[in-house]
Formats: sequence, C-alpha cells, structure tokens
Amino acid sequence: MLAAALVALLCVLWFVCSRWRDVLSGRPVESLRSVRAPLLLIAHPDDECMFFAPTVLGLLREQRPLSVLCCSTGNYYNQGEIRKKELIQSCAALGIPSSNVTVIDHRNLPDNPDVQWDKHLLADLILTHIKQKNVDLVITFDEKGVSGHSNHISLYHTIGCSVMVLESVNVFRKYLSVLDLPISWLFHRDILFVSSGSQYTQAKEAMMCHQSQLLWFRHIYLLFSRYMAINSLHFLHDNKREKDS
Ligand SMILES: *[C@@H]1O[C@H](CO)[C@@H](O)[C@H](O)[C@H]1NC(C)=O
Ligand SMILES: [Zn+2]
Repeated sequence: MLAAALVALLCVLWFVCSRWRDVLSGRPVESLRSVRAPLLLIAHPDDECMFFAPTVLGLLREQRPLSVLCCSTGNYYNQGEIRKKELIQSCAALGIPSSNVTVIDHRNLPDNPDVQWDKHLLADLILTHIKQKNVDLVITFDEKGVSGHSNHISLYHTIGCSVMVLESVNVFRKYLSVLDLPISWLFHRDILFVSSGSQYTQAKEAMMCHQSQLLWFRHIYLLFSRYMAINSLHFLHDNKREKDS
C-alpha cells in the first residue's frame, strides 16, 4: 500500500517535473550560451551515465557540442578493454559519437580507490587535451566526488580553467530519486538539469551498455539514485570568489 502510494507520488511528481523542466532548468540555457566546447571530465567508464546523464542530455538538448575525456579504462578488475567499449556504446546511447570520446590509459593512473593519482601527470594529460580541443568549459566532480571515490576527487583538484562541478549531495538525498527535486530546486547554486521521462529512459539504456558493471547493487542504484534524473552544478570560480571575499 505504502509502496504503491510512493510509486504514484513519484509518477505524479515526475510528470510535473518533466512538464516544468524548462522552467525549472531555465538557467542552463542562459549561463551556457557562450560556451563553445564543453568537456565532460570523468574518471571511469560509467561515470558519464551513473552521475552525469542529466547534464549530458541537457547540454545536447541545447545543441551544445560535447566531448568526453575519461581518465582511466576502469581496469580495477582487469576489464579495461571491455569497459572502454562499454563507454563508447554508452556515450552513443546518450548521443555522443565515438569521435568525441577519449580514454586515457596510463599505468600510473589506475582505476583504484586506494591510489592517489599523480596530480602533475594528470594535469599534464588533461591540459594537453584541453588545449588540443580548445575546450572552454570543463564539467567534472566536486571535492566530494559524489561517491567519494578518490579518482573522482583527483579530477576536481587538477584543473585550473573554467570549471563547473557536479554537486555531491548527502546519502539521504542521493537515493531520493526525483523526490529530491524540490530540495535541488531550492538549494542549487548555478545550474540544474532535470531529465524528462524519455531522457531518464535514455540514461538507463546507456547504463545497460555497461554490462560488466551491472551487479545487483547497481540496479538498486539505478532505481533510487537522484543522479539518474537530476544534476545540480556550480561554477568553480564562484566558489573561489566566495572564499576570497
Ligand atoms: C563532437 O565534437 C565536434 C567537434 O568538437 C562538435 O562539433 C560536435 O558537435 C560534437 N558532437 C556532439 C554530439 O556533441
Ligand atoms: Zn567512477
């Protein structure tokens, strides 16, 4: 009974959200109008859809060009080669062609939460890519890295140009799915991307490309994670400005 009520509530809320998403997420259009070449910077194959799908789909909806730089092959269980392919498929499912996806495969940047990535090496590789592609905005994790994975956090600490970071929310909000929308709406700082129903489905389809990652707990993640439907981001320079003043 309670479950049914919850599901019904979720559906209603969602319907309302997807209808109002243009109002709710009106700011991306404005703040990102001048951006020419945004880059999504991730640590592992699957970050793009597990955490950033609403952003990716939101940007593509605005006809923004987008490319992806993934800093490891996700080789923790020796599945690097498979996971690289899964990333390409998943990006295609989201609407990013393989020509816009780059994977760094460096033995000193292993997919491993216990290894602190060498900041100089990482910075070198990322900045080279940024220059080559004339990237003017980098979108990546914030200092908490959403899941707390140290590779995610390394990315935050590495880049120095115009950067927008994905806000990590507490664990309670993280698994509220779309019920987190009112909270996100009230408290987001710069940009809010809310997926429509069809975009949510698209994100799930992209996640299905990561077959090697679909262990039982990931299915639970997919069901309840707010990051499958909602992304709130803020500009890093705003952050710095606040700290300076
Ligand atoms: C892929 O990258 C190219 C060159 O930066 C860009 O023109 C194009 O719009 C991008 N495609 C997508 C779907 O973002
Ligand atoms: Zn990751």
